[in-house]
This record gives sequence, structure tokens and C-alpha cells, in this order.
Amino acid sequence: MRAINLERHGPPEVMVEREVGVPEPAADEVRIRVRAAGINFADLLQRLGLYGNAPKMPYIPGFEVSGEVSAVGAEVSGFREGDRVVAMTRFGGYAEEVCAPQIAVLPVPSDLDLVVAASIPVNYLTAWFCLKTMGNLRSGERVLVHNGAGGVGTAAVQLAREDGAEIFATASSDEKLELLRDLGVHHPINYRASDFAEEIRRISGKRSLDVILDAVGGKTTLEGYKLLAPLGRLISYGMFEAAPTANRNPLRAWRAWRQTPRFNPIQMIGSNTGVFGFHLALLEGKEYMVAEAFKQILEMVMDGRLQPIISESFPLTAVGAAEAHRFIHERRNMGKVLLVV
Ligand SMILES: NC(=O)c1ccc[n+]([C@@H]2O[C@H](COP(=O)([O-])OP(=O)(O)OC[C@H]3O[C@@H](n4cnc5c(N)ncnc54)[C@H](OP(=O)(O)O)[C@@H]3O)[C@@H](O)[C@H]2O)c1
Repeated sequence: MRAINLERHGPPEVMVEREVGVPEPAADEVRIRVRAAGINFADLLQRLGLYGNAPKMPYIPGFEVSGEVSAVGAEVSGFREGDRVVAMTRFGGYAEEVCAPQIAVLPVPSDLDLVVAASIPVNYLTAWFCLKTMGNLRSGERVLVHNGAGGVGTAAVQLAREDGAEIFATASSDEKLELLRDLGVHHPINYRASDFAEEIRRISGKRSLDVILDAVGGKTTLEGYKLLAPLGRLISYGMFEAAPTANRNPLRAWRAWRQTPRFNPIQMIGSNTGVFGFHLALLEGKEYMVAEAFKQILEMVMDGRLQPIISESFPLTAVGAAEAHRFIHERRNMGKVLLVV
């Protein structure tokens, strides 16, 4: 089978296409013939050498796929060859076939397009756990979603809307702001045209936010934290600032890491605030919660409460993957970017 391999760090063009053996499913695994694979910012970070939990190279990146079951392990029940499924993969998704543990696989309803299905897992699960589990977002609360027009961003904005929150969201262009407005964001803010923190203070006051979803890091995290109301929660789940371009830049990554604030629990008592960190790929022992959330998200997609937004699809080839990575580095995406077979 054909697969996209990561064999060294560098710009998008370092990814190569290889003929590799079809993987054999372990006893609890389902093998999937891939129809579409989701691209996540974490894939870009891996390529740049900035992702802490990557396997040893060479390996096939990719955290999520949709497709048809092509084989099942000896202990798998409930799936058989030909079933349409969507799955979370711990790497390996940029390939014609991939295996995933049964607990990370869900059937795709017959009226849900397989390509759309591939756009759901990582974005919506991340937004779900950040907003609902850690953020404990309640109706009427004020939430800020940074980069609201991106993959996780559009998912978070939709979930916050369904929870009845007052939504602030940032993006870098007027076109993206237009999308945010369409998605129900009450206060879209172009963070390039104005200072987001000043703008929020102007709209709702000095310390007015209940929940902040922050995958930016650096100074943005500190500026956001200062906007938290008493009992406010900041959820940190990424560091865009460490990867400003498609090329490796260790100095910028180091600077972003240095500029990201360190929080002191004693001072946090005085401000009545909480700071959380979230990582979807490190939920050992909580897989049942992921499976449960995944099911609820699919139900919300099927009854129309959530509308996955696909920005662009590229072919599942080395050239397609490189173009897709560049597309995201250049901040041209609004919603999810996919590789399709
Ligand atoms: N912890 C977890 O489990 C987890 C899971 C999924 C994602 N994440 C993190 O969440 C963030 C969003 O992930 P995603 O996959 O949905 O990506 P994405 O939002 O689709 O990323 C691209 C968008 O992010 C914005 N952006 C800001 N800084 C950027 C930069 N340095 N390079 C490229 N784009 C930048 C751009 O929107 P604007 O033009 O509006 O700025 C761009 O269109 C990432 O930081 C990712 O690492 C974390």
C-alpha cells in the first residue's frame, strides 16, 4: 500500500511517499481502508521537530481517518469487513490502510459522507474536552476562542453556541470574521487589526471572561489570563507561536516557550482563576470518556446541531500532503483540511 512517511524534519516537502506493507490488526484492532485522513496542526509540529510525543522516525503521521473496514482482529466484535467507520489513530493515518483500536472506532451513519466524517474526531473532541470537561462552560457565560476560524476553532465556536455561551473569537482576516459571524459568534475580533485584549475590555469590561481556549501561547496567554473573571478558567492546549512559518525556527520556538507565563497557585487563589492543560493524545485510562464524547458529537452532527466545516481537500500523496501543510502554515484554511483517496 502507499503511505506518506516522515523521515526527517523540515519544510512540507520532506514528506515522502513509500510502498509499505499492509498493517495486520492486533486482536483488539480494526483495519480501515482509508477514504479520507484529517490533517492537524500537530502533524505540522511533528514535521518541524516540535512535537514531544512523536514516535521514532521514519513513521507515518496522521491522527484520524474515515473509510471502510478491511479486516478485524480476533477479539473485535461489532465490526466486519465493509463497514463504514471513522477512527482516531495514534499516527499512521496518512496511508491507504491503517489499524485502530476498536474503542477508537465508530460506525458512520449511512447518510453521513465519509469525507465529512474524517473531519470530526480531533477537532470536535479537543473542543469538547477543553470547553465542557475542563472549561465546564455554562449557558450565559462568556467564552473566548482564539483562532476561531481554524479546525478546532470552528468546532469550539459551534459547541459554545450550543451551550448558550456569549462568544468572543479571534481570527486574522475579515473573511474569517465573516465566517465567525455566520457561526453565531457575538464578538468576532480581527487580532491583526486591533489588540484583542483591549477590544474585549472595551466590549465587556476589565475581567469579564469565564472561559478561554488558548492554543497560541506566548504573550497571548498572559494577556488572555488577565481578562478572566473571578472563577474564570483558561485552557491551554497548543502553542501556535512556536511554529510561525513552514520552516524550522528553533529560536522562535524557544522564545515562544520562554514568553509563555508560568502560573503560581498561591497567586491564583487571590485572583480566583484556574489554568488547565489539555492533550487529546495523552488520555490513557480515559479512553471510555473519549468514546462517549465521540458518540455524542456524532449524534449532534447527525441532528444538525454541529456542522463540520471542510476548508479544502488534497490528494493523499506526498505532493498533496505538502500542499496541505503549506495551506495551513499560510493560514489559508477556514475549518478542516483533509487528504482524500
Ligand atoms: N492539545 C490537543 O490535544 C490539541 C488537539 C488539536 C489541536 N491542538 C492545537 O490547536 C490548535 C489548532 O489546531 P488545528 O489543527 O485546528 O489547526 P488550525 O486551527 O486549522 O490551524 C490553522 C489556523 O490557525 C491560525 N494560526 C495561528 N497561528 C498560526 C501559525 N503559527 N501557523 C499557522 N496557523 C496559525 C490561523 O488562523 P488565523 O488566520 O485566524 O490566525 C490558521 O488558519 C493548534 O495549536 C494545535 O496544535 C491541540
